[in-house]
Amino acid sequence: MTPPTALVTGASRGLGAALAAALAARGWRLVVDARDAGRLTRTVAALPAACRVTALPGDVTDPAHRADLAAAVGDRLDLLVNNASDLGPTPLPRLADLPPAALERVLAVNTVAPLALVQAVLPALERAGGTVVSVSSDAAVEAYPGWGGYGAGKAALDLLTAVLAVEHPALRVYAVDPGDMATDMHRAAAPVASAQGPAASSRVAGGGEVLPLPAPEDVVPAFLRLLDDPPPSGRLRAADLLPAEAAR
Ligand SMILES: NC(=O)c1ccc[n+]([C@@H]2O[C@H](COP(=O)([O-])OP(=O)(O)OC[C@H]3O[C@@H](n4cnc5c(N)ncnc54)[C@H](OP(=O)(O)O)[C@@H]3O)[C@@H](O)[C@H]2O)c1
Repeated sequence: MTPPTALVTGASRGLGAALAAALAARGWRLVVDARDAGRLTRTVAALPAACRVTALPGDVTDPAHRADLAAAVGDRLDLLVNNASDLGPTPLPRLADLPPAALERVLAVNTVAPLALVQAVLPALERAGGTVVSVSSDAAVEAYPGWGGYGAGKAALDLLTAVLAVEHPALRVYAVDPGDMATDMHRAAAPVASAQGPAASSRVAGGGEVLPLPAPEDVVPAFLRLLDDPPPSGRLRAADLLPAEAAR
């Protein structure tokens, strides 16, 4: 039987790598990318030997790279995960100090490229009755100082995702806020993280305990739930898809 196929962007580390590993363990065929070819190769090499994976180094903002990804997918695509993302300049500047060119780059990676990738693989998604997951953020809906450029890109991604969902009712189309995770991106943002924004390396649970940030692997079950027990298309928080104990 032909295994299902997933295209996961930004799969060399963090959430994308964890999700790719989980799908590989389920026997999925994978098409993955990231800009750093060496790191992508090392990550893919750690996947199960039986996994069929096509790793294409490249930048999601590059139309030729997106065309290569679509060609590697082939005729049917069961899952597209728009995960690759750009935080913008760090330390995260206030909007007054955000260079317009930096905002344009954030929007190109976080908003324009995900839609362009959906467009590139839409026939393959429709043939498979597939699922689109665009990874969002709480910064899309909260006004955290310093997070305006990144958050604006994610907010726009959320709206694109919502409109795609109503325009393509045969597909499942989700924007998913994974919550804070201990990844390179979170560490890059840490210098300005404070009570006004996502915490640097820990979080305070409901009972007041200070807990470490979840690893991306801890959040993956929420994404797998979208495949195993799919809710209606929409914007979701990973914490709401996890069992109560795991989401603490
Ligand atoms: N970590 C958190 O706390 C958190 C919270 C809310 C939302 N998120 C979202 O969760 C998703 C995953 O974040 P993460 O924390 O796992 O990030 P991460 O650790 O920084 O990993 C990002 C991945 O994307 C790749 N990438 C970045 N820009 C790219 C580009 N232009 N083209 C292709 N690949 C690119 C990176 O590899 P290269 O650098 O080699 O390209 C890497 O593989 C993102 O959408 C992020 O916005 C994260």
